[in-house]
Amino acid sequence: MFSFRVLKSDGSARLGELVTPHGVIKTPVFMPVGTQGTVKAMIPSLLEEVGAQIILGNTYHLYLRPGVEVVEGAGGLHRFIGWHKPILTDSGGFQVFSLSRERNDKRSSVKVLEEGVEFKDHLSGDRHFFTPEKVVQIEEALGADIIMPLDVCIEYPTTYARAKEAVELTIRWLDRSIRVKRREDQVLFAIVQGSVYEDLRLESAYMSMERDLFGYAIGGLSVGEPKEEMYRITRVVCSVLPWDKPRYLMGVGLPEDIVEAVASGVDMFDCVAPTRMARTGTLFTSQGRINIKSKIYEKDYDPPDPNCDCYTCSNFSRAYLRHLYKAEEISAYILNTIHNLRFYHRLMEDIRRSIEESRFEEFRKNFLRSWLRTSY
Ligand code: GUN
Ligand code: ZN
Repeated sequence: MFSFRVLKSDGSARLGELVTPHGVIKTPVFMPVGTQGTVKAMIPSLLEEVGAQIILGNTYHLYLRPGVEVVEGAGGLHRFIGWHKPILTDSGGFQVFSLSRERNDKRSSVKVLEEGVEFKDHLSGDRHFFTPEKVVQIEEALGADIIMPLDVCIEYPTTYARAKEAVELTIRWLDRSIRVKRREDQVLFAIVQGSVYEDLRLESAYMSMERDLFGYAIGGLSVGEPKEEMYRITRVVCSVLPWDKPRYLMGVGLPEDIVEAVASGVDMFDCVAPTRMARTGTLFTSQGRINIKSKIYEKDYDPPDPNCDCYTCSNFSRAYLRHLYKAEEISAYILNTIHNLRFYHRLMEDIRRSIEESRFEEFRKNFLRSWLRTSY
């Protein structure tokens, strides 16, 4: 039912094919984030149109609302949300920590114990207790194709001792997740932790590899560390992961991060940047990042990106998108999100083609030169 094959490599970059019960995914792939069972401002037909192959859902959010029984009653997440291609659910390991940090009350609201993690939710403030077993059971009820185990994602910066404890607890939780997993039409990944400490990252990677999972994720990055640290850790971890298994860099990233991580051998990405930034008026274009709110676009009748093939760029001008945004029209969010997601998926298509044609390194150099010059 599942397989992963590296079809071609170019340096450390890989072109691959991940087969799931809901379809075949070409890698490297970008997965739009659909936290609450929808990619914000999108519907499934639009996701297909921009080139999405797989989307992400969040166990934490779906468990709180609408609740597991509602999704199960619909016949699972695919049917409930009307998306019949692959889905990956994250475990809540990240949300539990990041949402508590957002409320600035991490000391009182999240308790990490051997047994699991206790937290107050961000909706009602009620207390919940997630164990690795419970998270797998929730994810089995939701029915995504790829499921992530409960892990300990710690803040940056952190001490070596805290990072080591998180690595070890994450592995014990992984073992407990493996033990209770039942469904054969889902695969479980391991999550490598270890903050910015290379030896902990290697230990986490090797211990995960001993468990022989379908794929390996790199977690605990893009949490405030300098970009060079993120790139360094990604390189180190990828250098020891098994060649024939998919690698997923969680929560990353901006276009330059994706290109760098593909160069290190990463196959899968997710990030809220294209969708979230669309909703604040930032558009990713072949001429760099622009903000459509700016007065300079008031009478600019060119498309947002003259080199983009998306629905938005084929039909509307910068001036019109600026007007919609200023008027707070719902269509502003929709049209901006279509464009940004198409930009990301076209970037992935360009990356895949360059690997296929053995010119990834040249693509990377050219892309980074023009992107970094125009966007920052
Ligand atoms: N998303 C981004 N980073 C992480 C992480 O470290 N763990 C999990 N579960 N999800 C993430
Ligand atoms: Zn466009």
